[in-house]
Amino acid sequence: MTTLLDQIGGEAAVDAAVDIFYKKMMADDVVTPFFKNTDMDSQTRKQKLFLTTVLNGTSKGALSYMRRVH
Ligand code: HEM
Repeated sequence: MTTLLDQIGGEAAVDAAVDIFYKKMMADDVVTPFFKNTDMDSQTRKQKLFLTTVLNGTSKGALSYMRRVH
């Protein structure tokens, strides 16, 4: 089965997009205070894992988990 992850270019595409996203996000003064105590390497790894899991359809609990952590 072709997943959404396959269609957008696989893990390499998610990796590149998340790296660009957090670089831009951490340059924004409105958002950075939320992440002042956050290890951004770890955050980046978790975000990549979350998105690849959702996009390849293998995680059933990911959305309720996101609601809980936020
Ligand atoms: C589509 C929207 C978003 C997604 C997919 C997302 C995804 C994630 C993921 C995967 C984590 C890691 C959870 C874990 O520790 O297992 C996380 C944590 C976090 N997110 Fe989000 N997030 C989103 C929006 C936001 C927004 C809008 C904010 C605040 C402006 C935010 C602030 C945080 C913070 C502060 C953490 C905890 C970081 C830490 O552990 O120090 N997130 N998010």
